[in-house]
Amino acid sequence: MHARKPIVVGNWKMNGLKASTAEFGRIVEGYGAELRRRVQLVVCPPATLLSTFAVVALGSRVAIGAQDCHPRMSGAHTGDLSAEMVADTGANFVIVGHSERRSAHYESDEDARGKVEAAHQAGLIAILCVGETEKERRDGAALAVIDSQLHGSMPDGMTGDDLIVAYEPVWAIGSGLTPSLAEIAEMHAHIRAHLVSRMGSEGGRVHILYGGSVKPSNAAEILGLADVNGALVGGASLKAADFLSIASAYA
Ligand code: PGA
Repeated sequence: MHARKPIVVGNWKMNGLKASTAEFGRIVEGYGAELRRRVQLVVCPPATLLSTFAVVALGSRVAIGAQDCHPRMSGAHTGDLSAEMVADTGANFVIVGHSERRSAHYESDEDARGKVEAAHQAGLIAILCVGETEKERRDGAALAVIDSQLHGSMPDGMTGDDLIVAYEPVWAIGSGLTPSLAEIAEMHAHIRAHLVSRMGSEGGRVHILYGGSVKPSNAAEILGLADVNGALVGGASLKAADFLSIASAYA
């Protein structure tokens, strides 16, 4: 469990044009030997840039991920991207069940589970997102909500190599707000216990990332918590300097 290398994932969301390849190149350049030894970097650009970024990243060990995939491998699904197509670009990761997909595209836990299964079939590592709303936290329901999301969206038979869980409180995403360190630690310990009860010792190997307003100024204290095995970073991942500074919390 201690040998687990932390993972810092950048989620570019619907940002980035071909010209952004230069900024991504600065991330690749900044991922020097020392950082490489301590932390795995993953960048998830929009689908239009997956192949381009995969080529730029060649030989650098910066990994590439998509932001979503379809539960089916092919068929009449206009506008969708299968996990196999994602893998075909050179990507190795895919974000699944992000709260923006859940709210804007009405995706359910069951949808997320199908996507994790498809990712697994295509040889991708799924980054499964869970998180409570502000009201659910205020009502004292945060732990129960996460249990129910994990229960509904995590397929059986996963190992610590196929699955990453990202805890992203909905109200912390893009808001500049974060839970207290005690609340993050409590939730991550809770998720760890859930994973171990479901998966046995494999549950101890799963990376649990924190996401929601991670920035250079709060990265060290959040990433230093027990059972926080990395971060899922939105806004601050668009600037190479900020993203590398967050990853340097592990340096
Ligand atoms: P944020 O987004 O870092 O901009 O809050 C995180 C995410 O949605 O993955």
